[in-house]
Amino acid sequence: MERTYLMIKPDGVQRNLIGEVVSRFEKKGFTLVGAKLMTVSKETAETHYAEHKERPFFGELVDFITSGPVFAMVWEGENVISTARTMMGATNPADAAPGTIRGDYGVQVAMNVIHGSDSPESAAREISIFFTEEELNSYDKTI
Ligand code: CMP
Repeated sequence: MERTYLMIKPDGVQRNLIGEVVSRFEKKGFTLVGAKLMTVSKETAETHYAEHKERPFFGELVDFITSGPVFAMVWEGENVISTARTMMGATNPADAAPGTIRGDYGVQVAMNVIHGSDSPESAAREISIFFTEEELNSYDKTI
């Protein structure tokens, strides 16, 4: 079953949006297999966002993601990578459709509430940066 890495960013945690965001993915029917509130180190942030290293906003991005706790999660389900991206909305909340997480809760591209893996390769890489195998739970939903 497909897995993705989702992370509620420091703005989302500070604005008490953890419950709201988790609820959307639960209600959609995806399965939460790992989660933790954590403060990201500079080194981990630079590894996670390595593909943006040459972008002018890289420093700002690393500073922001390390500025306060994030809520790191692994979700499982059919097509969860692309469906989660659809539920999140466009990267820039100004372009994100109403009804999406960023469309409903964000206004700035830097503080856009949530990060989600954009491909199976990114998902595998990002999950391994933030979680050990032991921290991930496999279970069947019986109720
Ligand atoms: P995310 O999905 O976490 O992946 C990279 C992040 O870079 C993106 O969300 C945005 O929050 C951030 N980002 C993109 N463009 C800019 C920008 N122009 N200034 C600051 N941050 C940006």
